[in-house]
Amino acid sequence: MGIENSAHKEILDLLAVGPHIYQPLYNYPYDVPKPLRGCEDRCKAVATALGQLNGLNILDIGCSFGYNSLYFAERGARVTGIDFSERNIKICQGIQEHTNGDIAFHMAKFDFQYIVAIQPGAVDVVFIFNVLHHVMEQEGLEAVQGMMANLVANVSEIYVELALANENPIDKYQVCFTQSLPENELDFFATCVDVTIDLIGYFPSHVSEILRPIYRVKSNRSTLTE
Ligand SMILES: C[S@@+](CC[C@H](N)C(=O)[O-])C[C@H]1O[C@@H](n2cnc3c(N)ncnc32)[C@H](O)[C@@H]1O
Repeated sequence: MGIENSAHKEILDLLAVGPHIYQPLYNYPYDVPKPLRGCEDRCKAVATALGQLNGLNILDIGCSFGYNSLYFAERGARVTGIDFSERNIKICQGIQEHTNGDIAFHMAKFDFQYIVAIQPGAVDVVFIFNVLHHVMEQEGLEAVQGMMANLVANVSEIYVELALANENPIDKYQVCFTQSLPENELDFFATCVDVTIDLIGYFPSHVSEILRPIYRVKSNRSTLTE
């Protein structure tokens, strides 16, 4: 088997063992099974909101297979993608050669310790797409609020896509996280000081008919211009 074929087989094997295939594989030239949802719609909307991408330091938390990280790296941003799933990070690292750009993927858990370890000035923009409901299950609402307050004090902008309490999951996803979510999804940011929150748009997910919002949570001390 050639090197290319064995690398592709490894990707297929990794895709087969996971809980699901959440994202498309960005720029991947071979056929793979269909993902649960697309990312391009969300990336385009966030790219428009960000404007200039060149040299922007982006941290993509819960990066899954790296689609969003790779999309922004290809357009000039310096991107780090993290995920606590070893399988997901192996897939990211296995496909990143197909995209030009400044990009690194690391296996890491997003929690309070992770946030306080971010060096001042190291990260401009953070993506947290469809991750806070998992963190809420892992850590609880108060902990997530503390994490967001600390994060926004240390970076210029957070883009966050949020699962909603009123989603009625299609049975096959067996999603029970909605019961523990706050009625007002912006409660996650209730203890953030001196921020402006703007709605970027609503996007379809695989979980229900209900569209999920992406918000920009921007520190009012931000030095980024639009
Ligand atoms: C629903 S997927 C969303 C993927 C991607 N952000 C998107 O919206 O296309 C959630 C991802 O976050 C990761 N994840 C969940 N909790 C995490 C945590 N505490 N630290 C790091 N990754 C986490 C999961 O492994 C998974 O890849």
